[in-house]
Amino acid sequence: MDKLVIEGGTRLEGEIRISGSKNASLPILIASLMSEGNVILENVPRLRDIKTTIELLTLLGCESGFSGEEVLVSKGSLLPEAPYELVRTMRASVLCLGPLLAKIGKAKVALPGGCAIGSRPVDLHLRALEQMGAVFKLESGYILGSCNGLKGAHIIFDFPTVGGTENLLMAASLANGESMLENAAREPEIVDLAEFLNSCGARISGHGTSVIRISGVSSLEGCRYRVMSDRIEAGTYMAAGAITRGDLVLTNCPFHELEAVISKFREMGVKISSDAGGVRVKADQDLSCVDVVTLPYPGFPTDMQAQIMAVMCVARGSGIIRETIFENRFMHAQELIRMGARIKLSGQNAVVRGGVLLTGAPVMASDLRASASLVLAGLAARGKTEVQRIYHLDRGYENMEKKLSAAGARITRISE
Ligand code: EPZ
Repeated sequence: MDKLVIEGGTRLEGEIRISGSKNASLPILIASLMSEGNVILENVPRLRDIKTTIELLTLLGCESGFSGEEVLVSKGSLLPEAPYELVRTMRASVLCLGPLLAKIGKAKVALPGGCAIGSRPVDLHLRALEQMGAVFKLESGYILGSCNGLKGAHIIFDFPTVGGTENLLMAASLANGESMLENAAREPEIVDLAEFLNSCGARISGHGTSVIRISGVSSLEGCRYRVMSDRIEAGTYMAAGAITRGDLVLTNCPFHELEAVISKFREMGVKISSDAGGVRVKADQDLSCVDVVTLPYPGFPTDMQAQIMAVMCVARGSGIIRETIFENRFMHAQELIRMGARIKLSGQNAVVRGGVLLTGAPVMASDLRASASLVLAGLAARGKTEVQRIYHLDRGYENMEKKLSAAGARITRISE
């Protein structure tokens, strides 16, 4: 297993290019299996989860893979099974439920099971698909779904689930009749998926709001589509600029989709501006802790919680972070404490007392965004930090050590 070795204490300066969005690419790749024609995707990042999704598409009967900087997906005769060996490594595989039911009327998808950050059930996906006429049973750890065609339905989600909204967007695109999703997720990745589906001939409106309307069509065509930039990767490098008191320009960087994150960093004292050259992140003064509550979009994203906690550890004062989306997403706190951070956990809340000079230490990554927060802490810490099990990091960050090194970080990957 690889690890990252970081000598902390250098300010980051220079340019970092933001890659395509992992969480937009995954549903769009899976949605591609619904197209009758070939799909060509641009700006897809080269990540572990993308490789896993390409493997899933191949298992489902689609030819897919990188061709230069593009990903091509050409439809074959679809097979219904997403096996446990694959699903357990990437729970987003459950997103193939809607497309398979819509296309071939059956699906056999391993129950994703929990992960480090929580139980992550899929009950909202299943209940909504049942309203469209699907029938499910759980057998030997698999979800067995079937339907005689899907019919449009009026669905009200108990919670604005991102994956649930994505599954239902895809299913409803090829259902018979009109569908309405209420209390739908509003994340930018949902908008990107809907725009992709519309490029293939779907008829979706209201995406980005909590009420999405879909008029089912009989088939979807192929298309060429450019995936959006990764707003969470961008937020992570904003945190890197902040925690090292650096001066970074992020190119190919989203701005509007990061309003809640930018607002919090500005509240801490980070200067963030945007012009044609990119988004500039400058931290030339002491930073102050803030209070953060993670919420569905457009609130502060849970995927940035670990990263802002790392920055708060070295900022003045104290702040409370409330994690409302996942039940176990403070795994990074214990590792940050080993680096000298002062964090008290109590249920959904983490109280961070800042003003600490972190010291390097061997630390263990537990999940994707926790890994990122440990790298951030290592950049600011005095001495050497070794982040182990960085396969977690490789799921969601393209060439992180290369991008950080180019901006002045002393960071190397050691393959063990
Ligand atoms: C997506 O996960 C993202 N993953 C997550 O990013 C992100 O943290 C999450 O949305 C919230 O923004 C991808 O896009 C691949 P949810 P998803 O369904 O779809 C509960 C990362 O770091 N829930 O909105 O799984 C669930 O347990 C990853 O890139 C149900 O109870 O998120 C959780 O507590 C981590 N029943 C909450 O809702 C359901 O049927 C949010 O889940 C579905 C969800």
